[in-house]
Amino acid sequence: MTIAQNQAALGASALPTAAERFGILERPDLTFTPEIARETADLYERVKAFIPAFEWPVYAPYVHAINRLKKERGAVILAHNYQTPDIFHCVADIVGDSLQLARDATTVDAEIIVQCGVHFMAETSKLLNPDKTVLIPDAKAGCSLSESITGADVRLLKERYPGVPVVTYVNTSADVKAETDICCTSSNVLAVVESLDSDTVLCIPDEYLAMNVAKQTKKKILTWKGHCEVHERFTAAELLAYKEADPTIEIIGHPECHPDVIAVCDFAGSTSGMINYVKDKRPARVLLVTECSMASNIQAEIKGVDFIKPCNLCPHMKRITLPKILDSLLYMTQEVLVDPAIAGRARLAVERMVNLKQ
Ligand code: 13P
Ligand code: SF4
Repeated sequence: MTIAQNQAALGASALPTAAERFGILERPDLTFTPEIARETADLYERVKAFIPAFEWPVYAPYVHAINRLKKERGAVILAHNYQTPDIFHCVADIVGDSLQLARDATTVDAEIIVQCGVHFMAETSKLLNPDKTVLIPDAKAGCSLSESITGADVRLLKERYPGVPVVTYVNTSADVKAETDICCTSSNVLAVVESLDSDTVLCIPDEYLAMNVAKQTKKKILTWKGHCEVHERFTAAELLAYKEADPTIEIIGHPECHPDVIAVCDFAGSTSGMINYVKDKRPARVLLVTECSMASNIQAEIKGVDFIKPCNLCPHMKRITLPKILDSLLYMTQEVLVDPAIAGRARLAVERMVNLKQ
């Protein structure tokens, strides 16, 4: 069953939909007026390196309407570091890596969360906030890792390796999380693995993340053959060619890359780990081995760093756009629901991760 089919099946219950609970609003006029130009001028300053001035009249009415509607609805926008600069800098309230977004989702007061990221992130927010309304502007925003494994696969793994604890990457469906002892993200995977009282750990479904963590622990790591379709495309040879052209370039990578790629990186970490590294070290030239919107997002904040961007885009993250965010807030779509039969167990796995002391 696809994510959309699953959500449609869950939504077919007799419970009122988000649109019925909150009502729908009238579509605003999206003309670029002098008032909108004035009220969005400071936001344009943050993104002007990426959005040409002649295009801003198309973006600005959406930015303006979304920011107004957020207040009217009492909604908060959570955005992943891979969202495009217009979303990241102009409409998001909270930005971060997967772990930060999961943690922040537990502290927001707003009744409505609009998740600008992929479906598993919205599902994680819903698991942690069962009483809040969680919307994703496009429910088809999936993830190759999440699609690589099902709950039934995990049950078979547990039969094959009885007693071995299961650490599941947060990039999975609630169905998979429900079969899991504890979740992890790329920023805490080592701490999570080390926290378990077992010499052998199943670390699924990202094979490369598991291989990278295996190099840092004495525990035996068993894994699965899932890959991120963005990070698996980078090769060590490609990165070494950049280094050869300019030996001063610092290369920093994401642990979803193959270990051969990580071996030629000067640093590896989660998306926020990479951002903090650039902010702290201020390398003159840096190559970010990850989804390429992230370099644009930090480039807008950090001056004096020359970013090299091999542009691998995540097609799932890129499904989220300003017009779809506006529709979410107007029509209260698309609501993220989790099957009550699995929600409790999936929530426990996420909460164990969020509450883990590091
Ligand atoms: P983090 O932001 O947790 O590093 O995850 C990267 C990623 O690929 C999310 O889809
Ligand atoms: Fe999934 Fe990779 Fe896209 Fe992240 S970047 S959402 S891991 S496909």
